[in-house]
Amino acid sequence: MKEVVLSGIRSTGNLHLGNYFGALKNFVRMQDDYDCRFFIADLHALTTTPDPKLLHANVKNILAEYLAAGLNPEHATIFVQSDVPEISELYLLLNMHVGIGELMRTVSFKDKARKMLGISGGESDDDIEKQIIGTDSNKRVNAGLLTYPTLMAVDILIQKAHKVPVGKDQEQHLEMTRRFARRFNAFYGTDLFVEPTNFNFGSAPVKVPGLDGSGKMGKSEGNCLYLIDDEKTLRKKVMRAVTDEGPKVPNSPVSPTVENLFTLMELTSTPDTVQHFRDAYADCSIRYGDLKKQLAEDILKITLPIRERILEYQNDDALIARVVKQGAERARHYAAQTLAEAREVMGIKKFY
Ligand code: TRP
Repeated sequence: MKEVVLSGIRSTGNLHLGNYFGALKNFVRMQDDYDCRFFIADLHALTTTPDPKLLHANVKNILAEYLAAGLNPEHATIFVQSDVPEISELYLLLNMHVGIGELMRTVSFKDKARKMLGISGGESDDDIEKQIIGTDSNKRVNAGLLTYPTLMAVDILIQKAHKVPVGKDQEQHLEMTRRFARRFNAFYGTDLFVEPTNFNFGSAPVKVPGLDGSGKMGKSEGNCLYLIDDEKTLRKKVMRAVTDEGPKVPNSPVSPTVENLFTLMELTSTPDTVQHFRDAYADCSIRYGDLKKQLAEDILKITLPIRERILEYQNDDALIARVVKQGAERARHYAAQTLAEAREVMGIKKFY
């Protein structure tokens, strides 16, 4: 039996190069060797952006993007979280074994709560807690956000996943998942839940930088190159990337902003091209305009074919429906089994 690999992505906007190099490309490579299950976390999206007009459209977009990037529904189970109601039920059950203290100490929760309350940072955890408890109703920190880690743990535990490929920012959630699994198993004297590990398919985790010189590419940073960007948009974004004044003396150290461009280039261009610009940097003959032009060219070689497929799949409702229906059936098959076992050990039994 193949090991189960599970990963999800929140449906809050389009996929960018960070998602592609950080996750999707690896997902595609794993499809044949593992029992892969990839899903769209639309319930998780509700914790921060409950917009009924956008929710469904976003889910569809990401599905089209998953498929366009190379996920194959014949090899992997591709599903939508809300299509598996067993997840919601187990989420309620598992919450009975999760402490509000440990949830409140979660880094992602504190960050998001800060944002919702409009506090810029610097405040101590005590201050944040006071604000959460004492705040008025238009600046609510919702309970769904607090219990985000429970829901994520259930996504994983209900599929009995062994390996969960996620980025560094999700490491704490995975750690909590293991803790919840261990605690539940110990409390009920069962071995129902499997403790999952992070998994990068042998490759070191890639950090895809943004174009604004500020580190990571991220939706909330507004520094993204999207798979769906058209040629003109993408070129414009790359040409506008932040650089510096250029090397003044040979073999100068490379500033972080320019190193970001090199990192992107290493992901998208040939080694020869990268070396050419590294050499040009070292002997001070580099022109950032040329580097950016080349970079845009090489990124487009990767993204334009994907973009074409995205547009095609977005218009193919029948295909999307077929994929998620089949995915939901498979995912529910496993989820229902785990849920039944959990109800049983917890003593939830029917009288009829
Ligand atoms: N929290 C993850 C993120 O923001 C998305 C996610 C939800 C997830 N459930 C999951 C990832 C289960 C892996 C497994 O990226």
